[in-house]
Amino acid sequence: MNTSVTIDIMETWNEQTIKEFRKTLLNWYDKEGRVHLPWRVNHDPYRVLVSEIMLQQTRVDTVIPYFDRFMTSLPTVGDLAIAPEDVVLKLWEGLGYYSRARNLQKAAQFVVNELHGQWPESSDDLQSLPGVGPYTAAAIASISFNEVVPAVDGNQYRVFSRLLKIDADIADAKSRKIFYDIIAPIVDPERPGDFNQAIMDLGSSYMTTKNPDSLYSPVREFNAAFRDGVEDQYPVKTKKQRPVKQLFMASVFEKDGKLLFEKRPDNGLLAGFWTFPLTQIESMESITGQQLNIKPVTHIFTHRRWEIWLVKQETAMLNDNQQYFSSDEWSALSLPKVQHKLLEKLYDTES
Ligand code: ADE
Repeated sequence: MNTSVTIDIMETWNEQTIKEFRKTLLNWYDKEGRVHLPWRVNHDPYRVLVSEIMLQQTRVDTVIPYFDRFMTSLPTVGDLAIAPEDVVLKLWEGLGYYSRARNLQKAAQFVVNELHGQWPESSDDLQSLPGVGPYTAAAIASISFNEVVPAVDGNQYRVFSRLLKIDADIADAKSRKIFYDIIAPIVDPERPGDFNQAIMDLGSSYMTTKNPDSLYSPVREFNAAFRDGVEDQYPVKTKKQRPVKQLFMASVFEKDGKLLFEKRPDNGLLAGFWTFPLTQIESMESITGQQLNIKPVTHIFTHRRWEIWLVKQETAMLNDNQQYFSSDEWSALSLPKVQHKLLEKLYDTES
């Protein structure tokens, strides 16, 4: 539980401050940014796409030789579209997450075959490419097509949460829009791609996660969290609570080819749904009857992880909430996901 009281108020910038920030940032980028990175030598959307996909889970230093090799073998989007898949995967070997490579090739085929080589130019349209989400689309749109749009990723969360003392929790997916709306008016309208890449460079030099070097940062005068000595509190990220593990026994009563179901109480988890009779147990020793599955059926609710063991039982003493259903009857009911999992497991008890 977070019991601290938030007293920080988000810093706001006026138009003048925004202009000074852009100028300071881009002057620094022109002098000290990583303008030599191989995907920055021109703004070809194909090169930007390949680099951004490679950089999704991999560090810049690791990506550079892969990127160079990839461009030597497949220099255009047309080359990638028609390359044999094993050639693409070979070029990817060692980078991991091979679905990225497959999606990248699908994106190239989409551009070549469906769009006749005409790249989508807006961040909205770019998201129709396989494997391209809001961040990657914004990166390509701003770098290759000058769309004035922030490429909101972990770097932008970190940098702007500190500069402006933004308290939105970055573990919460809804915060993306909050950051987007705050950063959008700050993006330099003349050089949006350089603006986004300058923030990336800031986020991996003076404004890193662990060892920020704010005193020497080119944008230190704009850094409200540094000014107030609270830089270590940004970005705000709540730890996900581990769901509590709970053991259950799902009783399987069979009679004349029918299965016994129980209607859950009107409140609590799965309220009003039909499931097998579920009994919470302390440990595996509490299981009475013939255990049917080797691995439990697992189901995660927000704060709980249920591990459920199917246990075959003999004759039931029916109560008011219980009823036998044939498969035709239970198929017609609206059953919760966890009950579907139990039925699947019941008919596949090898696993
Ligand atoms: N990380 C993600 N995209 C990047 C880029 N274009 N340059 C440097 N680092 C990055």
